[in-house]
Amino acid sequence: SLLAGHAQEADEANYDESKIPPYTLPALLKTANGREVTTVQQWEQTRRPELLSIFTEQVYGKMPADKVDVSYKKLDDNHSAVNGSATRKQIEITFSHNGVERKALLLMYLPNHVKTKAPVFLHFNFQGNQTISSDPDIIPSQHSDRPRGNQASRWPVEKIIDAGYGLATVHYFDFFPDSKDRYAESILALFGYQSEGDIPADGGQAIAAWAWGYSRVMDYLETDWQVDASKIILMGHSRLGKTSLWAGATDPRFAIVVSNESGCGGAALSRRQVGETVNRINHVFPHWFCKNFRQYNKKEDELPIDQHELLALIAPRPLYVASAEEDRWSDPKGEFLSTAYAGEVYKLYGMKGLETTTMPAVNTPIMNRVAYHNRTGVHDVTDFDWENYIEFADKWLK
Ligand code: GCU
Repeated sequence: SLLAGHAQEADEANYDESKIPPYTLPALLKTANGREVTTVQQWEQTRRPELLSIFTEQVYGKMPADKVDVSYKKLDDNHSAVNGSATRKQIEITFSHNGVERKALLLMYLPNHVKTKAPVFLHFNFQGNQTISSDPDIIPSQHSDRPRGNQASRWPVEKIIDAGYGLATVHYFDFFPDSKDRYAESILALFGYQSEGDIPADGGQAIAAWAWGYSRVMDYLETDWQVDASKIILMGHSRLGKTSLWAGATDPRFAIVVSNESGCGGAALSRRQVGETVNRINHVFPHWFCKNFRQYNKKEDELPIDQHELLALIAPRPLYVASAEEDRWSDPKGEFLSTAYAGEVYKLYGMKGLETTTMPAVNTPIMNRVAYHNRTGVHDVTDFDWENYIEFADKWLK
């Protein structure tokens, strides 16, 4: 299956710290022409835009700037969901452009006890809206026939509602069915792209399309009277963790960004080459990153950026990066180090990053403006992860 990441674990993958090739990370706080960045102004006016355009052109790819027509149709608005504690809304979002139409189905649960606009966790799902809960009234997503409640362990809906947060989700296939043969069904078709061959070298593919989807859902959330759009916590797991970081970097409207086990091309430093590598990811998932990223297959040293610089693009907004001890494919230590290094930019803002380069013990979160934990267990989204994201959101939004 698409999600059986561990089956792809290559025999040659390295997990031995002593076998990591020596590397020098690109300096986060030095401009392309060698000037030290010492102020927020230099960061915001020079260095940040410089890094953002490198990530756009060399890693994730550009989305066409065309304005797409969008309409919202409310299919459901039920105030007695989750034993009466939540309002369930289902909104069909229709995109049309160049005579092409694509639809995304947004599922939301909003806490009834919050009388003002609620802060919301926005978190796309892997297997279809109907899989996040056994609620029989969830409309199944168009690209999925998976059973109801199949993924419920990853979606503690009651816990989220009780904590005073809403939850918004879309099946990520609605924006790009996750396969190298399905460009024509994706939102890229709105822009005239039907297959990989149509995409320019710096053009966005699946990750850019999913990130575009996160921003389009944000457009909707801004219109919903029950949602506090200034308090959206953008969250993603794994390939969608890579996506949440990219969406958070490109769209400053997201108040908090959470990366759950995003690994290679997400929070992990590429130059460590631990677990999944740039070469491996570009071969197994040629439809994820832009084609230019392939230039760095087995040439991590030539990358003009590394992933600590992606994390820094979230600053000064709160950022939480999480790993799992047994998820070695995502390189927990590489995720930790890049998160620690990104703290340099938070420091410019007078805010606290992780304030250490020593990895904390398992199940012991560090929670400053930048947060990190490495929980015990495998590649997954667990209650431990959610409880900490809720605590982090409480800390910065309440
Ligand atoms: C595979 C892939 C990872 C990805 C993961 C997932 O393991 O190699 O890069 O993060 O799938 O999305 O679960």
